[in-house]
Amino acid sequence: MDTLEAIRTRRSVRRFSDRPVEAEKLRSVLEAARMAPSWANMQCWRFVVVQDPGVKRRISEHAVADSFNTAKGYKSNPSQRALAEAPVVIVACAECNRSGDMGGQQYYMTDVGMAVASLMLAAHAVGLGSVFVGIFDEKQVGSLLGIPAYISIVGLIPLGYPLDAPECGAPRKSLDEIVRYGTWGD
Ligand SMILES: Cc1cc2nc3c(=O)[nH]c(=O)nc-3n(C[C@H](O)[C@H](O)[C@H](O)COP(=O)(O)O)c2cc1C
Repeated sequence: MDTLEAIRTRRSVRRFSDRPVEAEKLRSVLEAARMAPSWANMQCWRFVVVQDPGVKRRISEHAVADSFNTAKGYKSNPSQRALAEAPVVIVACAECNRSGDMGGQQYYMTDVGMAVASLMLAAHAVGLGSVFVGIFDEKQVGSLLGIPAYISIVGLIPLGYPLDAPECGAPRKSLDEIVRYGTWGD
């Protein structure tokens, strides 16, 4: 699959089969994250790979998003189920003082976001599904995994073979709505 096709056809995957993820595929998606651009090439990202079913289940218990799900009209919590069901959960972290800080603006979220985007596209290109889970209790997940206080947890990424055919694509704004040429204009 070429890059543009991977970008065009990737979807968030929230249901996973129990087929294990081969070690070399897992390594290849982590490699893709490793190659991402970052502030001054500081590479502040750190990843914890969780495969133990009991630990994944406990992580999922700390990804409660009831008010969000009610607002969205979800009856169950799709991200909690994804975290428990996926054979692998990648916990994407940042060593924040290893990234940029200019005028009070920190760049570790951007760095980790770029790495995770590469990771998710690489996963899709090798037949794996993933979803970025941003709603979780950082303190609880950090203490469960022994993550030190100087490390921030940016997101949780369930990863595995999709259970079903990919969900219909979430709609996107048109280019007209998001792009302005030359100046911002009126
Ligand atoms: C920063 C961020 C946080 C997200 N948090 C969640 C989440 O907590 N739970 C979830 O199910 N999806 C989450 N998503 C996935 C988005 O809902 C999804 O990417 C978006 O609806 C577009 O759908 P697509 O990925 O299938 O193209 C998150 C995505 C991003 C980038």
